[in-house]
Amino acid sequence: MAVKSAVRWGVRHGLAQVAIKKGAKRGDAHGRLVTGGSGIDPHPIYDEMRAKGPVVMGAFAMVTARHGVISEILKSDDFGAGLPLEALPRPLAAIGKWARDPRNPGPVDPPSLLVIDGVDHMRLRKLVSRAFTARAVEAIGTDIETVASELLDRLAREHPGGGRVDLVTEYAHLLPVQIIAKILGVPLAMQDQLLAWGDDLAASLDIGLPYRQFRRSEKALSELNDWLREHCAQLRRNPGDDLLSRVVLAGQDDGTELRDQELTALAGLVLAAGFETTVNLIGNGAVLLFEHPEQLEILRADPSLWRNAVEETLRFDSPVQNTARHAVRDTTVEGVPISRHVLVALMLAGANRDPAVFTDPHTFDVTRANAKDHLAFSAGPHYCLGAALARMEGEIGLRKLFDRFPDLAADGPARRRPTRLLHGWASVPVRLGSAVAAAA
Ligand code: HEM
Repeated sequence: MAVKSAVRWGVRHGLAQVAIKKGAKRGDAHGRLVTGGSGIDPHPIYDEMRAKGPVVMGAFAMVTARHGVISEILKSDDFGAGLPLEALPRPLAAIGKWARDPRNPGPVDPPSLLVIDGVDHMRLRKLVSRAFTARAVEAIGTDIETVASELLDRLAREHPGGGRVDLVTEYAHLLPVQIIAKILGVPLAMQDQLLAWGDDLAASLDIGLPYRQFRRSEKALSELNDWLREHCAQLRRNPGDDLLSRVVLAGQDDGTELRDQELTALAGLVLAAGFETTVNLIGNGAVLLFEHPEQLEILRADPSLWRNAVEETLRFDSPVQNTARHAVRDTTVEGVPISRHVLVALMLAGANRDPAVFTDPHTFDVTRANAKDHLAFSAGPHYCLGAALARMEGEIGLRKLFDRFPDLAADGPARRRPTRLLHGWASVPVRLGSAVAAAA
């Protein structure tokens, strides 16, 4: 219903938008960050936040960009994930509850893993975590190699003269979406539709979204949820050998199976998180290597460093810039009192350039010894379930790309995605150059 949708927008985005604009006018760093759009370099603002204190007042929430503080909050029982309606002032919470659309939960609405805590979170997380352990992902490595080779073969075939292509739309986006579709048993024919839904949904993670964009993301969400409900029902009738079929079947004998809504939310989150983030890792890594050819030379001389280059990319140009937690009780962080229900925005990308942890934090260095200490995958109970998979896709995807097209070069300005929380490139024009023969 349009009225309820407008109310949902108002509660989630409209009020924040007013506070953000006011904050930006005052010169507040958080306000400037949010209104600055995705094209600005956010790091001078994170530096400013970090210098101001451990946790400082932002536009509509408290904010922190310090590595130690973010780590502590992410692991602390004093903080919960997301922002429950109960944490809002009472009349607003009541309006928000009235306007809820329980049939159409998004990635940051319960029962999404991202915003639930305690035993419910553990129960749902356990169901999918086995599929994403480092060992399980090792086994998927061959699939990743195969899909990456097929995509690169196609590029070489379709551009025999080594012409101009868009690296994001023709490679970086396709590798993760094909892998997660394989893992979840989603037909490949759905690829273009998934990418289109993913694009509209990615925007909904940003706070202060304009109304029209919010409506577009709700429409995409509702279409994705309808499709997933039907897909899961089909898997219940006729299960395959994929992860989603196993989740659908789990607990059927003892009655602990997932409710339809939990199942749809879980499938939607894993599906979208599976490709909307890793595309940024591959795109950001490629652009960084174009900008730092001496680092590419280091990797060519010692290919064993590719793994660390992926960690350094995650640290230096983090695909997920921030998350948030709310205090579940009155508490104190590094001497700063934080009252119950107060929201704290955690600038993961700011933590990843904290000079207290990383020497010369604004230097991209693929040999950095502690690159892996970044918080790009968060920490604590919500630590990214797909981290091992993303790392492997990043490493194989980038290494194979630069091996197959040794003269690959940027060809014109790249364009950032319009999203702020998800940070990557929408378009990276490149000239392929000649392809070397594919490895046998
Ligand atoms: C470079 C790629 C990726 C990055 C940077 C990334 C980042 C993150 C971050 C920061 C969180 C935690 C948010 C918080 O603490 O509030 C998270 C959670 C999550 N990620 Fe990823 N992710 C990536 C790839 C993936 C992939 C490939 C998958 C799926 C296979 C995935 C599935 C998930 C899931 C299901 C959660 C929720 C975990 C929970 O709340 O318990 N992610 N991710």
